[in-house]
Amino acid sequence: MPTTSAAGMSPQYPRKPTSSSAVDVPRETWVRDTHTREILESLPSGDETTPLAAQLAEDTRRRVSLQNHSFARPETTRIITVANQKGGVGKTTTTVNMAASLAQGGLNVLVIDNDPQGNASTALGIDHRAGVPSVYEVLVEGAPLAEAVQPCPDFPTLLCVPATIDLSGAEIELVSLVSRETRLRRALDVYLADRDAAGEPRIDYVLVDCPPSLGLLTVNAFVTGREVLIPIQCEYYALEGLSQLLKTIQLIQAHLNPELHVSTILLTMYDSRTNLAQQVASEVREHFPDQTLVTSIPRSVRVSEAPSHGQTVISYEPSSTGALAYREAARELSERAARG
Ligand SMILES: Nc1ncnc2c1ncn2[C@@H]1O[C@H](COP(=O)(O)OP(=O)(O)O)[C@@H](O)[C@H]1O
Ligand SMILES: [Mg+2]
Repeated sequence: MPTTSAAGMSPQYPRKPTSSSAVDVPRETWVRDTHTREILESLPSGDETTPLAAQLAEDTRRRVSLQNHSFARPETTRIITVANQKGGVGKTTTTVNMAASLAQGGLNVLVIDNDPQGNASTALGIDHRAGVPSVYEVLVEGAPLAEAVQPCPDFPTLLCVPATIDLSGAEIELVSLVSRETRLRRALDVYLADRDAAGEPRIDYVLVDCPPSLGLLTVNAFVTGREVLIPIQCEYYALEGLSQLLKTIQLIQAHLNPELHVSTILLTMYDSRTNLAQQVASEVREHFPDQTLVTSIPRSVRVSEAPSHGQTVISYEPSSTGALAYREAARELSERAARG
């Protein structure tokens, strides 16, 4: 049963203690590459005749190969807007789990929750009750971003700017404000420059979660980002609306943010057993061969459970198939140079 239910907070279920094995492994105790290879080679590969045995063996292999992996630091801060005007396709889940994976890989990560629903804030265990300094104050009142930044309890290098219920009015309030499309970008630019000037560690990744619409909040996110990550749910209608999304991105690129480009597409809630998912996946890969990550995210109960504990699946159940998939996707993202 939920223990609290404050306004702006989702019901809070007891937090699961963070597993020390996958989250807090000190770098100096990590096994060396050769050792990892030896472990991988020693894993039995014969008895994979049942789907469960095959899945377990595969998960163990993935876990071992990810265990000692720290992610490459990008040359400059990568600012990635996670967008798709469809609801429920995995934007928030992707934002928080990619961010947690990158942070766990040793990088400094900032999540900006730019959706009035505040789901990313909930999943990261961040207080976002009405009145807490948030992206609303930044966008509408011009408050410094630094005033709204909070640390994520599970990952020391993960920061979050939460969204409160106030943000639901921002779409209308922004209309009459000057430079309404560039307010988030300016605030982030100032924040990153101030950190530099103060000698604070550089933020390696900024991930901006978007609402399911193409209104001013999403436009602000597109003007802020240099890259767009589009999660696509492997279901019928998946590609419907995609051309409108791409057209919007082109317009932003032409008029407001020439650097913006779709760098990454991630297939989410993939169920390899259905022909439909396979068809959607191959269609997406055919259209966007350079952007689509090799890793797809399977449907996983643990992934959907984690937010109700105020956690990402990376800390909630680090050895689950869903956590492994997000960590692999994050590794892939970090290994790809930003492309046009
Ligand atoms: N890989 C997954 N496996 C199972 N459930 C998922 C997965 N990804 C997302 N979900 C669930 O699907 C719903 C929609 O995901 P969400 O990330 O909130 O989408 P969006 O932000 O695009 O609206 C949520 O309830 C979430 O927990
Ligand atoms: Mg969302």
